[in-house]
Amino acid sequence: MNGSTKRNRKQKESLIVVTIDGPAGAGKTTIARRLAERFGFCMLDSGALYRAIALALLGAQVTPDAEAIPEDLLSTIKISVQPGVGRMKLLLGNEDVSAELRSEEVGLAASKFSARPEVRKALLGVQRSVAKQHNIVAEGRDMGAVVFPFAQVKFFLTADSEERAKRRYAELLEKGEHPFYSQVFSEMRARDHRDETRDLAPMVPAADAIVIDTTSLTPDGVLSIMSDHIGAKLGIVT
Ligand code: DC
Repeated sequence: MNGSTKRNRKQKESLIVVTIDGPAGAGKTTIARRLAERFGFCMLDSGALYRAIALALLGAQVTPDAEAIPEDLLSTIKISVQPGVGRMKLLLGNEDVSAELRSEEVGLAASKFSARPEVRKALLGVQRSVAKQHNIVAEGRDMGAVVFPFAQVKFFLTADSEERAKRRYAELLEKGEHPFYSQVFSEMRARDHRDETRDLAPMVPAADAIVIDTTSLTPDGVLSIMSDHIGAKLGIVT
């Protein structure tokens, strides 16, 4: 092994992974972005990858309830991410689809498609490759338990379902949509149930995750608790 290979290996071994898992509306994305900015880490929004694969499958006329995804279709879907500090750009082929991923339709389809083993398998490599190049804050459902079991710091954020539905409702109003609260609440409960009960990589806290209930905390409060944990674990003064 030459000097530069040794250096590369050493550098990669010391890269840091912080994982944040939890249900929709628990505040993961906002917190992940702010934490990443605070520590100068890149952001891996794994939900965006599931949304991108859903967008591509819907575009190929495969519905989430279809019996099977046609063989070989998944291998033709080229998803790549361009991570940045506190943000992430997602490309489908050469096209930046980051802005198209946020709709309720795509989120619902992503939740359904994500229960399929072949879909989860297709995304594993892309997620892990980001952590080979950068210090990251990775957020999703199975970051700590499955994708990055070796992560140095793992969090699981939760909040009671009414609070999460209220946050989601406010977000949709802000985007200019006119949702019914009762529908937002029931769709969120259905999504939680699906994400928690699927056979493969269900949404559960990793055994070594720090669980934080954000129901009555402000984003600043959550950020401060998490920064303290990261600082203590990595020996950084925050
Ligand atoms: O976090 P999000 O709403 O963007 O995620 C959309 C869906 O993708 C979510 O309902 C379940 C799935 N997902 C997953 O199965 N595993 C992840 N690590 C991230 C998201």
